Amino acid sequence: MLATTTAPPEPNMKFFVDTAEISEIRELAATGLLDGVTTNPSLIAKSGRKITEVIAEICDVVPGPVSAEVAATDYKEMLREAAVLKAIAKNVTIKVPLTPDGLRACHALSSEGTMVNVTLCFSAAQALLAAKAGASFISPFVGRLDDIGMNGMDLIADITQIYNNYPAIKTEVLVASIRNPIHLIEAAKMGADVATIPPSVIKQLYSHPLTDKGLAAFLVDWAKTGQTI
Ligand code: E4P
Repeated sequence: MLATTTAPPEPNMKFFVDTAEISEIRELAATGLLDGVTTNPSLIAKSGRKITEVIAEICDVVPGPVSAEVAATDYKEMLREAAVLKAIAKNVTIKVPLTPDGLRACHALSSEGTMVNVTLCFSAAQALLAAKAGASFISPFVGRLDDIGMNGMDLIADITQIYNNYPAIKTEVLVASIRNPIHLIEAAKMGADVATIPPSVIKQLYSHPLTDKGLAAFLVDWAKTGQTI
């Protein structure tokens, strides 16, 4: 039998939650199914709180990667902000936009061992650049592509195919801008490493009308037995 050079598959898809609301994060962390958190400037604004405080609180609750995004657009300022965010906790992942300065910052940060999530990816070419810059995660936004009449999942198919062609690429495909469970299922079928999911969509993942109907029937039948366990 010939030895295969294929890397072993990931044990499972990682689930991150896309929110800066600490109450939602606590609730999801308690399920034991949460692997990380992503935030962005809009989510921090929605929380109404100071970024350093929210990120510190999230990092206390979730031991996995917690993405905190820089707000600067130039390289030097990005590195300054990254230093502030990194100092909050060991599991902070610095999020940078997919721009020339963002990728330069990604290269500098990843070279010194900092986890970097490159965000706002809308093309396979951009994903290839992020991998070359040493990103830990690339965040392609599927929902926002769907919003402009494109098929966001086609981008995930392209990126996973390209990354799989080069086993030395360690960048994980983090599917972002997920709007529904179908996005998640399609991403898992393509072997994407991570999905960052809004809390409302995570709740939808549990639901099936036949589960509810089946449980109701079991409870009725059980009550008829008069037993307790
Ligand atoms: C990912 O990191 C982004 O924060 C997020 O998924 C964007 O989603 P949206 O397009 O629903 O704002």
